[in-house]
Amino acid sequence: MTTPQEGCACPLTNQAYKKISRRDFLGLAAMWSCVAAWILAALGLGKFPKPALLPDVSRVFKIGRPEDFPVGTVKIIEDKKVMVQRDEGGFSAISLICTHLGCIVSKTEKGFACPCHGSKFDEKGNVVGGPAPKALNWLEISQLPNGKLAVNAGKSVPVGTKLAA
Ligand code: FES
Repeated sequence: MTTPQEGCACPLTNQAYKKISRRDFLGLAAMWSCVAAWILAALGLGKFPKPALLPDVSRVFKIGRPEDFPVGTVKIIEDKKVMVQRDEGGFSAISLICTHLGCIVSKTEKGFACPCHGSKFDEKGNVVGGPAPKALNWLEISQLPNGKLAVNAGKSVPVGTKLAA
């Protein structure tokens, strides 16, 4: 690095041209790296309060009109992982997501069975065997103003809850 000549019109003083030691340079680099990391971390934290999805809105889905479910109907809606049924007491919806680790249970003659770790559930979803800690979730089912039935996969209701027909 050159130093300014005596009488130079350059605005920098001799002090500004003083060579920075390697130790000072590394110290400044480390300090600015820390500052940059803190700024990026703060920007990242700013994203946390906003939810990526709105479960109450996106998890409600229509299943059809009540007349589509005559008494005795048992319908599995595979893409929603829900079983909807109608008996004399009304309409009900049971989640097919195992309460152990979330595998999808299969309908059997006596209830439900989980293929992952062997949990078994009765026809109401109550645990009858295996590691599942609680019954399958019963989901809120309601009738929309247009008359169609809707299931809220984000809202559990007590076992046995039905929408009166
Ligand atoms: S996920 Fe169903 S028994 Fe483990």
